[in-house]
Amino acid sequence: MRKKLVAGNWKMNTSFSEAQKLASEVANMVKDEALLDGTDVVICVPFPYLSTAAALVADSPVKVGAQNCSDKPKGAYTGETSTAMLASMEIPYVIIGHSERREYFNEDNQLLAAKTDIALENGLTPIFCCGESLETREAGNHFDFVCQQLTESLFHLSAEQLGKIVIAYEPIWAIGTGKTASAAQAQEMHEQLRAHLAGKYGAEIADAIPILYGGSVKPGNAKEIFAGKDVDGGLVGGASLDSRGFTDIVKAI
Ligand code: 13P
Repeated sequence: MRKKLVAGNWKMNTSFSEAQKLASEVANMVKDEALLDGTDVVICVPFPYLSTAAALVADSPVKVGAQNCSDKPKGAYTGETSTAMLASMEIPYVIIGHSERREYFNEDNQLLAAKTDIALENGLTPIFCCGESLETREAGNHFDFVCQQLTESLFHLSAEQLGKIVIAYEPIWAIGTGKTASAAQAQEMHEQLRAHLAGKYGAEIADAIPILYGGSVKPGNAKEIFAGKDVDGGLVGGASLDSRGFTDIVKAI
């Protein structure tokens, strides 16, 4: 059975005290490991709050992730954070290739391949994001476009390496817009992506990779979206800033 996962992406939000409150509340609400039934719950917090958040959730099943990492191992890269640093803090997850990084920081598929490599080298689980713009969808090229993102950033990996990755499909037109992909659109893309992975790595490996959906997931639509047979959880932005809403989304899985 595939791992299920619900991850909150706080993006560049919360003051330090708000972050402490939110992390503690989520940890308190997601206390019962048995109820999670193998689902991982992750909060991807801003870099400065990582160690505090990790300490606050330490007695709960909640795990902490970073929202980005450098593609370089170490050295004179002012302002960057390496995956070795994250590993040394025992941070298990890192988001790679979010559309906001691709768009505002010009991160391309090649750079994201390098980030994925170094995250894996340091034992982190990449949550690798992919997704098309509205323009690409309206032109009918969305399947090819998203498959190409996987090909160019992930298909150099060995089967063993690929098996350690979580993929998040986040259509750009659904991020922060309140306009979610329909459950059918999400399932359809996830199925395509799994078939694309199977074409390169075989069905057994492709079937084991969690594919999350992200883009305006809310307590009210999570259950329907997560019902798709290839939808293994969610990457949640805005709704993860509210502990009750986020835990309701976790419960929906
Ligand atoms: P929203 O849930 O706010 O649409 O954001 C989705 C997202 O970008 C998660 O990474």
